[in-house]
Amino acid sequence: MYVLRRRTRIEIWAPAKLNLFLEVLGRRADGFHEMETLMASISLFDHLTFTASEHSDLQLSCRWATRVSNSADVETLPTGQDNLVIRALDALRQASGAQAGLSVQLVKRIPTAAGLGGGSSDAAAALVAANLIWNLNWSTERLSEIAATLGSDIPYFLWGHAAVCRGRGEIIDPLTTSWRQHLVVIRPPEGLSTPTVFRQVEISPTPNRIEPMLACLRGRRDREIASHLFNRLQSAAARVSPWIERLQSEFDRLDVQGHQMSGSGSSYFGLCHSARHANRVSKLLQSRCPGYVFPTRTLPGVFERCTGSNN
Ligand code: C5P
Repeated sequence: MYVLRRRTRIEIWAPAKLNLFLEVLGRRADGFHEMETLMASISLFDHLTFTASEHSDLQLSCRWATRVSNSADVETLPTGQDNLVIRALDALRQASGAQAGLSVQLVKRIPTAAGLGGGSSDAAAALVAANLIWNLNWSTERLSEIAATLGSDIPYFLWGHAAVCRGRGEIIDPLTTSWRQHLVVIRPPEGLSTPTVFRQVEISPTPNRIEPMLACLRGRRDREIASHLFNRLQSAAARVSPWIERLQSEFDRLDVQGHQMSGSGSSYFGLCHSARHANRVSKLLQSRCPGYVFPTRTLPGVFERCTGSNN
């Protein structure tokens, strides 16, 4: 995430993520699944503006960015207590004893029910902003504990732009990598529910290993990354939505380096050689498939927090 501190407000650009590798290792007694996944953030951002409130209320206004609402079948956004941003602020207030309110304006670009982590990234942004505005001085470790109670993907967004995530997703091992990848992403007209997809997953007695992909990243063998793409949830999602197989065959016809579904879907992505290639593939896909299509690239692995104080 990118954080900009202004005099009277904090602005945060909260990125989407993709899962380049995702293996499900087992079912747990608490209803979750043990997993191992490699997540990387991409240059598609929700934008959040946080302003200290004179009252003790937590207020959220939320809208789709014009480009998204014009080009996709967008879902209605929750603005009340059921929005993860409000739940995150509420949880932090209760845990810290803070009494102050906060007003949040959220402009969404990251499609929902897409496996891109948009809601989780927004919630992580809310924790970071409230920590600053309420002068709590909590460490990332402490914010992570709250984040994990709200959603398995949320801690990842507090730690960086690339990480291996284990447990139910909340145990984060950040990666510093110089790997930059151009991609094209599509969110078909139908989203997918994470619990529904997890219910369909078949756990393999011989799980795939993440190490070969990590070795490529560490050894800067970028061209080999495509051959290690893997997502155990993809076949599960394909049993729930016909879009997954349709997108798989569309991408088979494109000259991308490799392709797969992200997270629990329904978004699907392809690896491209360059920005030009990603733009070309994006246009081609747009002409063939309904949905929200965009070219993008991974963010630098190192976490950057920018601070500024202009107005
Ligand atoms: O943690 P989060 O709220 O994102 O999870 C949503 C649902 O996805 C869970 O209630 C669970 O059904 C499923 N899930 C899972 N194993 C995980 C993460 C999520 O079964 N590791």
